Amino acid sequence: MAVIGIESSAHTFGVGVVEKGRILANEKAMYRIGATGMIPNKVAETHIENTPQVIELAIEKSGIKLRDIKAVSYTMGPGLGPCLQVGMLSAKALATKLGVKLVPINHGVAHVEITKHITGFKGPLALYVSGGNSQILKLDRKRGRYAVLGETFDVGIGNMLDAFARELKLNPAWGSKIEETARGGRYIRMPYTVKGMDFAFTGLLTHAKSLIGKERAKDICYSIQQTSFSMLCEATERAALLTNSKEIAVCGGVAQSDTLAKMLASMSKAHSMKFGRAQNEYNADNGAMIAVLGEKVMGYGAVDIRECDIKQRYRVDEMIIHD
Ligand code: FE2
Repeated sequence: MAVIGIESSAHTFGVGVVEKGRILANEKAMYRIGATGMIPNKVAETHIENTPQVIELAIEKSGIKLRDIKAVSYTMGPGLGPCLQVGMLSAKALATKLGVKLVPINHGVAHVEITKHITGFKGPLALYVSGGNSQILKLDRKRGRYAVLGETFDVGIGNMLDAFARELKLNPAWGSKIEETARGGRYIRMPYTVKGMDFAFTGLLTHAKSLIGKERAKDICYSIQQTSFSMLCEATERAALLTNSKEIAVCGGVAQSDTLAKMLASMSKAHSMKFGRAQNEYNADNGAMIAVLGEKVMGYGAVDIRECDIKQRYRVDEMIIHD
């Protein structure tokens, strides 16, 4: 018996299929982000166009029959309203047609949980870094919720790096292009903002933008990256030591950065902590993470199909999860 998971919170429409923890399929179609960034209604339209083929392809690749599906899970939030609606409505339609449970999922919790699933970590301190989110999380087993130990005061690190990449006219305007451009760069002093286990990025972004045309692009890229990643490492290190953690995991879209992973691995090693991250396809937004978490919580996390909804500002510490 399998669970199908649907992710649609931002630019990715993803569908994953999982059976007893085994990921059988992880298919997706992405909206191409141009110079204007993401326009929610346009992204949602693209998701609607992609819905039938991505669902069909995932089911075909998984090798399961429709009658094998025992639940459908979907991203309830956080995310862009029109995009979340597409995923919720397609999940609702599928669950209604199949007569199975419908399980709403928090996107951030899914990022952490698939990383646990893949690394085999039991109770890691997790640095969750993506476009819209940057948080330090740890599961509070007694409360059955993730605790947010630290987070960004302003923007997510991914959006900050993407905004800088657009300003520098990099193509594609993504953080990964900054990492590429930063090779061989030298360090220029930048604003560094860490308050306990929280951090902020807009001062850094404003300063980096002001240097465009005055300093070499590779030096600014190197410096914005080193500064922002060091801030994340410092806050994560403090949180790991305060919580006596033995494992550190990084997850979310920005976890695909090898530079960030190396810095976190080196910090973890200095404290004899294990460090781990999932493969890139599971750090980028994907349906498999929604399916994996759906299978884990379906016993207590399902909702009445008529009452299912989306929650654009669904915080990671609101979802009930028993480990
Ligand atoms: Fe994400």
